[in-house]
Amino acid sequence: MEDLAHGSPDHPNPLRRLTLEQLRRRTSVKWRAYPEDVLPLWVAEMDVPLAEPVARAITEAVERGDTGYPAGTAYAEALASFASERWGWETLAVERTRLVPDVMLGIVEILKLVTGPDDAVVVNCPVYTPFYQFVEHMRRRIVEAPLDARLRIDLTALEDAFRQAVAGGRRAAYLLCSPHNPTGTVHTAGELAAVAALADRYRVRVVADEIHAPVVSRTARFVPYLSVPGAEGGFSVMSASKAWNLAGLKAALAVAGPAAAGDLAAMPPEVGHGPSHLGVIAHTAALRDGGAWLDAVLDGLDDNRRLLTEALVTHLPGARYRPADGTYLAWLDCRALGLGDDPAAAFLDRGRVALSSGPTFGTGGAGHVRLNLATSPELLAEAVRRMADAL
Ligand SMILES: Cc1ncc(COP(=O)(O)O)c(C=O)c1O
Repeated sequence: MEDLAHGSPDHPNPLRRLTLEQLRRRTSVKWRAYPEDVLPLWVAEMDVPLAEPVARAITEAVERGDTGYPAGTAYAEALASFASERWGWETLAVERTRLVPDVMLGIVEILKLVTGPDDAVVVNCPVYTPFYQFVEHMRRRIVEAPLDARLRIDLTALEDAFRQAVAGGRRAAYLLCSPHNPTGTVHTAGELAAVAALADRYRVRVVADEIHAPVVSRTARFVPYLSVPGAEGGFSVMSASKAWNLAGLKAALAVAGPAAAGDLAAMPPEVGHGPSHLGVIAHTAALRDGGAWLDAVLDGLDDNRRLLTEALVTHLPGARYRPADGTYLAWLDCRALGLGDDPAAAFLDRGRVALSSGPTFGTGGAGHVRLNLATSPELLAEAVRRMADAL
């Protein structure tokens, strides 16, 4: 293991800092949904201590009693600087952003602006389960455009879905997941430009969920959707919540392309009452001062992807895993293991390890599980041993 281990004395790998005993004291859903004997590698929370600049910012806010309502554009400014430094994206304009409570509620509010009841929302299945839940809850129809066999966007399937979505002259939206959850696929500039051209041709409004954008391997490149030619009428929803493990500190940003600014301006002001002031402070500190910590996490995730690949070859050779550059999620094809449509059920019952159930990610999810890599190498290795015991 040691030769795989990243981290330096200044920036030790945050994924190696907490013991199982410490993690079990947490009260968030990852650690409370299952009994004590279950090892939880399901929901997208990371097993890391808070980044020091973030902890300092919220501790100082608490000391000031600064726990009122959010104000100002500091979060958007921090995101614009981060986007410029990390992705070379220079045109994220603060005046085309709106503070929203979190990414999913930001998506819902944008979908309300560009579609009406019973209009279609296109998704690339298998995809993040709440896409189905939130879209159906707001009375929009899901139209699936499955990923291809390499787990990349299939432009032919997307075109078919767009055609179906706008049939009868209806308005339609495309909820792009970039990078893609659960597969970790990082879309290329060419793919995104092709998506933009297709959306333009069918008059489908693109809403890019870019919550995982900072969580891309340092050897790969994240391309913001709004930075590609032809994407001017689209939206992005971004947040520091996945990369710095801040889901409990609610805040996110909706970003409009230049041709969508008028739509975003129509978002009702009360949407901005949802994010928490402490959340805004935490997210701003993360983007502004959390870069070194994030890099240490990214290196640790690279190590974990290699470790998972090796552990599966050794203990579970029937499982297929295609390591990807984005997110801290691994999408495992378990169809050859003989565990049926929902292998997560067997892994939980017999292996006492909790993974996310493949079928909940829509068409293409049967026989698969999603595993959360954002844990220590020890717990990751233990999870694979438990999965093997379930066979
Ligand atoms: C693709 C994607 N979108 C949205 C979310 C949820 O974000 P939020 O808690 O800000 O609504 C997640 C959480 O894992 C996610 O993976």
